[in-house]
Amino acid sequence: MIKIAPSILSADFANLERDVRRVSCADYLHVDVMDGAFVPNLSIGVPVVNSLRKCTGLPLDVHLMIEKPARYIEAFAKAGASLLSVHLEADHPTGIAQALELMERHGVKKAVALRPITKAQAVLPYLQQLDMVLVMTVEPGFGGQAFLPEQLDTIRQVRALIERYNPACLLEVDGGITAKTAPLAVQAGANVLVAGSAVYGADDPAAAIAALRAAELTP
Ligand code: DX5
Ligand code: ZN
Repeated sequence: MIKIAPSILSADFANLERDVRRVSCADYLHVDVMDGAFVPNLSIGVPVVNSLRKCTGLPLDVHLMIEKPARYIEAFAKAGASLLSVHLEADHPTGIAQALELMERHGVKKAVALRPITKAQAVLPYLQQLDMVLVMTVEPGFGGQAFLPEQLDTIRQVRALIERYNPACLLEVDGGITAKTAPLAVQAGANVLVAGSAVYGADDPAAAIAALRAAELTP
């Protein structure tokens, strides 16, 4: 079953509660945290996650595009994140291992994320303890970019590793997901689809979510 995670990066931040309600038929709420260093953009942080936790029952899938993310795991866990993704490029392996340990300690689901430059095999040291792997299908930092088709190979390779070492682990894709690209990502092995502009750029976000779910049925 495909799960949909609308990204609030494309929502209207002055009407965030309204825009969160508009996607209540989704499976997760995807929250993009950017520090202006790991990516060349700034977005939102701990207080917004705290407020979101009070206005939706959806699990909060928090994508940390920040350097040395271990520094902030406890704060995001306490603010109500359900799952945290840390980028493998954001710290040395010991820092990534420490971030995952903190997630375990604070009862948050664990994910690692891969920029397009990072090879699928990079997940191997962590895979057995993960709840999800996030494969970026654009360069992280901005919504509304075009899907990178060369990432389909990485999705396939991560899917093969998941099947071999941790079949319960979810495989999320993020960036440029539309009703056109979603079936490609799903056929390559993704089962969680993040979508920002495809959901919030649509007149009817709930219908856009339904269209993305149908990716599973597309031959
Ligand atoms: C980009 C973010 C994405 C972004 C996706 O760095 O991680 O979650 O919101 O936006 P779309 O779906 O518009 O590509
Ligand atoms: Zn994201």
